[in-house]
Amino acid sequence: MIKNPKTIGLAIIGAGRVGLIRGELAARHPQVGWIGFAEKNPERGEIVREKCGADFLTQDYRTLLSRPEVNAVMVCTDEHLHVDPVIYAAERHLPLLIEKPLATDLAESAQTLAAIEKTGVDAVIGYTQRFRRRWLVAKEKVMTGSLGEVTMVTSRAFMNRLVAIDNYKRSDNRSEVTPMVISGTHALDIVMWLMEAKKPVEVYARSVNKALGPTWQGIDGTAYTISFDDGAIYHGVISWALPEIWPGAVYSLEVGAVGTEGVLTIDDTHRDMVLATNIIQAEGYAPDKRRHVDFLTSYPVGDMALGELRGPMREETNSWLNRVSLGVKTQHATAAEGHNRLMLTKAIDLSARLKRPIQLPITAQDEAQIQ
Ligand SMILES: NC(=O)c1ccc[n+]([C@@H]2O[C@H](COP(=O)([O-])OP(=O)(O)OC[C@H]3O[C@@H](n4cnc5c(N)ncnc54)[C@H](O)[C@@H]3O)[C@@H](O)[C@H]2O)c1
Repeated sequence: MIKNPKTIGLAIIGAGRVGLIRGELAARHPQVGWIGFAEKNPERGEIVREKCGADFLTQDYRTLLSRPEVNAVMVCTDEHLHVDPVIYAAERHLPLLIEKPLATDLAESAQTLAAIEKTGVDAVIGYTQRFRRRWLVAKEKVMTGSLGEVTMVTSRAFMNRLVAIDNYKRSDNRSEVTPMVISGTHALDIVMWLMEAKKPVEVYARSVNKALGPTWQGIDGTAYTISFDDGAIYHGVISWALPEIWPGAVYSLEVGAVGTEGVLTIDDTHRDMVLATNIIQAEGYAPDKRRHVDFLTSYPVGDMALGELRGPMREETNSWLNRVSLGVKTQHATAAEGHNRLMLTKAIDLSARLKRPIQLPITAQDEAQIQ
C-alpha cells in the first residue's frame, strides 16, 4: 500500500498549446497544491494563468524555479528550447517531465542527458502515445513472446502538412526541423519500445522534398531501414506533406510486426470515426478552412469532450503526477531513451542527406565529420 502522497508544487515552463493542456490537467489533480508558469510571451502567459487558476506567473523560468513551493517541473517550450531550462532544473534536483524531443541538436541532447545523469534527477520525456491502450497491449504481447522472435517491423506515418508548416513558421533554424526529428520520433519511439531488447546497428534512409521544399526549404518525407544486431529489420516511412484537406488532423499510423511465431498489425489511421461538416471548429492546430472531413481522434494529444481533454496526454500527465507524488513506476520514456530517439532520427536524416548507410550509434562529432 502506498502512503503519504507528496503535495506537488508544479512549475510549467512554456505556456503554449501543450503547457496549457498540461496545466489544466494538473489543476484537477488532487495532489497538486500549487502551479506556477514561466512564459516568455506575457499576454499568452496571462491567458493561461487565468484558465488554469495558477498561483504564479513570470517570464523568467529562473524566477519560477527559485520559488520555494516548486518541487516538480514540466518543460513545454518549443522543441529547440528545452535544453537551458532542463539543465537549470536538473541542477536544482527537480524531477522533470520534458516534452519530446529531448533537444533538436545532438550535442545539446548529449549535454542535457549528461546533466540529468550527473544529478541523478528523475527525468522523463513526453512520448505521449505510450499511454494509449493499443500500444500498451502491443508492448505486452511482444514482451511476453506472442510473436516468437520479432524479425521485421514496418511503420507508416502519414501527416497533414499543417503540422510541418506550423513548425517551419516557428523555427529560426529550418535545417533542424525535419519530419523525423519533430514528428517521426513518435512512431520511432513506439517501434523501438516494442523492439527494446534489440540493438540497432545500421540505418539507411532517403528523403523527398517536392511539396514543402520550394516554400519552406523543408523535407516532405523520409523512408528508412534500421537493422539490428540479431538480423531483425525495421522499415519506416513518414510523410508530413499530405495536403491540408487530408482528413487526418495530425497523425495516421499503421504498424506491422512479424515474428517467427506470430504477426501483429495495428491500424491507427483513425479512419474508423469520420465527421463531415460545413462547420469548422478550431482545436489544436487551427484546421484549414477547406477541411470539411475529419478523422476524429487523430489529434494525438486527445480531444476535448464535456469541457475536458480526453485521451493520451491526460493519462500521461496524471501518471507523471502520480509518479512524483507517490513514487510509483510508470511507462514514461527515460531521458536516455529520449536521447537515443534523437540520435536515431539524426542518423536517419544524415543517411538520407548522404545517400548512404550510417553505422549506429552516432555522436555529434560523427554527425559533423561524416561526409
Ligand atoms: N507529447 C505530444 O504529443 C506533443 C504534442 C504537441 C507538441 N509537443 C511538444 O511540446 C512542445 C511545445 O509545443 P507547443 O505546440 O505547445 O508549442 P507552442 O509554440 O504552442 O508553445 C511553446 C511556448 O513556450 C514558450 N517559451 C519558449 N521558450 C521559453 C522560455 N525559455 N521560457 C518561457 N517560455 C518559453 C513560447 O513563448 C510558447 O508560448 C514541443 O516540444 C512539441 O514538440 C508534444
